[in-house]
Amino acid sequence: MKITLVVLLFALTTQSLAQHGSVFPQPISVEQTDSKFVFNRRLTMDNTQVPAESFSYFRELLGRNSVYLEPSSAKEATIRLQQIQTLVYTEGYQLTVTNTGIEIQYSNYQSLCNAFQSLNQLILNPQELPGIRISDQPAFSYRGVHLDCSRHFFTIAELQKFIDQLAKLKFNRFHWHLTDDQGWRIEIKKYPKLTRVGAWRDSTLIGHFSKQPVEYEHQRYGGFYTQEEAKQLVEYARIRGIEIIPEIEMPGHARAALAAYPELSCTEKQLPVVGTWGVFDDVFCSQEKTRSFLKDVLDEIIEIFPSQVIHIGGDECPKVNWEKCPKCKTIMTENHLKNGHELQSFFIRDMEKHVNSKGRTIIGWDEILEGGLAPNAQVMSWQGVEGGIAAAKQKHQVVMTPTSYCYFDYYQSGHPSEPLAIGGYLPLEKVYQFNPLKGLENEYKHYILGAQANLWTEYLPTIQAVEYNAYPRLVAMAEVLWNQSKVPYPDFVAALSSYYLPQLQKDGVRFSTSFLDPKLEIRPYKTGVSYGLIKPVDGVVFSLNNEAVTGINIERTKQIQESRYLIHSTIGDQEMRVCDYTFTSHLALGKRVEFTTKPHEKYNHNGSLGLTDGVVGRKPWKGNEWLGFNNDTIQFILDLETVTSFSKIEIGTLNDPGSWIYRPEKYLIQLSSNGKKYKTVAKSSMNGDLIRVTKKMKARYIKVSIYNKELIPAGQTGAGFTPWTFINEIILSE
Ligand code: ACM
Ligand code: ZN
Repeated sequence: MKITLVVLLFALTTQSLAQHGSVFPQPISVEQTDSKFVFNRRLTMDNTQVPAESFSYFRELLGRNSVYLEPSSAKEATIRLQQIQTLVYTEGYQLTVTNTGIEIQYSNYQSLCNAFQSLNQLILNPQELPGIRISDQPAFSYRGVHLDCSRHFFTIAELQKFIDQLAKLKFNRFHWHLTDDQGWRIEIKKYPKLTRVGAWRDSTLIGHFSKQPVEYEHQRYGGFYTQEEAKQLVEYARIRGIEIIPEIEMPGHARAALAAYPELSCTEKQLPVVGTWGVFDDVFCSQEKTRSFLKDVLDEIIEIFPSQVIHIGGDECPKVNWEKCPKCKTIMTENHLKNGHELQSFFIRDMEKHVNSKGRTIIGWDEILEGGLAPNAQVMSWQGVEGGIAAAKQKHQVVMTPTSYCYFDYYQSGHPSEPLAIGGYLPLEKVYQFNPLKGLENEYKHYILGAQANLWTEYLPTIQAVEYNAYPRLVAMAEVLWNQSKVPYPDFVAALSSYYLPQLQKDGVRFSTSFLDPKLEIRPYKTGVSYGLIKPVDGVVFSLNNEAVTGINIERTKQIQESRYLIHSTIGDQEMRVCDYTFTSHLALGKRVEFTTKPHEKYNHNGSLGLTDGVVGRKPWKGNEWLGFNNDTIQFILDLETVTSFSKIEIGTLNDPGSWIYRPEKYLIQLSSNGKKYKTVAKSSMNGDLIRVTKKMKARYIKVSIYNKELIPAGQTGAGFTPWTFINEIILSE
């Protein structure tokens, strides 16, 4: 993107900034005053008040803004620090700009870092600052970002740059995903093969997991961090107010470790570090020898990482090998464990006891609830918020990270130019709407420490790809975690475009501008629907099929067959990417659909109009346009309002097993004139992805029942879970 974009955005949107200033996340209380402090690029501070490395960091921070921080005596300082232990919240601070300088009141080191981040973002002009009084504190004590360094490896320098950006947004936890099936990334001195063998794979999957035939890049790939490097990163993050929480995955996601030490698995079979993505049956055996090994690993991890909490993974552990393994079976018998879930619980409790004996606490993904939660464990709720709520009700501390709001490996837009992603759909606006406390009764809210954005990297091979997925969604997440009462989304977007994107650009951080695409609003209209384009920010100018338009409202009725619209937009003189919409008109266009089984809230494209809006979900699927269901059976009734003749019914379905989406098995279509008595016109197994009925038909109501595969088959990712079913439109032709 050209530099002009951000400059022009700035010019265009400043008028709408009443609600959100230049500090991200928005401080709790901001008061403008009549003062003005002129400092001409030079600020001073009593450097004896903070450790030398912190002074250097603050100097570096302001230096990036062309302001030079110099040491001085307390009397001469223009930035005057006052430590007050009694500030209400430990990370809160107060910052006041007067005619003579900048007063900062803070409680602890994190709070001082937060004050400096705000100060730096307030300096829009390196010569002077307008008078201001900020009183600030975060809503949540855990404000985290996770990065998977196993599926792809990132250098320490890349991680430093990543952490710098997290600090800017006042995140205070970096969850470092260090081990997984595709690579072990941390040196463990007692077990050198973990990195000699486990850190390297011979091949890596090309393209999406679901693509057939499967293709690999046959090149050695890997890397690891020495303990010294990890310690240095811990210190680097600490200076920036961030604690690193390491994750060592167990008992599942263990293929890299088992490639190094196959004797730790149930089968003891020598298998390679895996080069594809998914969930694998070869996991750590529950035998004593394996658990001792993991305790040794955790002992070294505890030495490297001073965090109170150590992440032990716990997610996606198939129990099939345990159920066949004599060693596991003996443990189950001896300990009166009824099933694999209880064995997993036994495993995790054993780890917890060990970690607790070292004065630390474990945190794990929400599967650690299955079979009984370890007594002091914290829970990271990813499969939804339900696990988190259940844990809070058991009086356990929780970090919310549900896929629907926190998985930043999901698509952020359905635009065809979006880079390949794992699946899912999480646009910026949805992240901004996240409320980690939703669904909790008041008495349990204090168990929710906060939330975390997760960056899984199967499809993010470079740090630039990570950044593109992270930004600007992380800016929205920072707002969610800092403020309980956020400004309206359009004000956030305006401020983001004007103030934050230019900073990212200056720092050389990649970001997505997909939130600036024109948004489509679809409504029923006469005998069809109307499509309205919504401006993402003030000042955007649209053209439609190369004709300039002001307020676009495309109205289409059922007579029109198919029409394609190319929507160009410009902001200032910056051309944004072209959005391409194809609308298919048909007899059911704009007609009401009553769902017996509702689409899942994650994939509820356009609600009750989703199947009749003329937007036929495209392939490859990019998270939107389709309706997704997670039930055994889908049923809905289309009401054509009058008895109508037609000769074809078509409904598109999707088959994307890597994303747990399966083509349904069979369907039943019934017709009725009065909505009471239905007659079957089609009852069939699926033959390809399209449900299609062709014959002369006449009805007002069409009842569609679609039957899914009951469970994802063994050997596939998500085995044992209910598969997703996706449908795109019910197209009726004369
Ligand atoms: C996870 O996404 N498997 C925690
Ligand atoms: Zn076993």
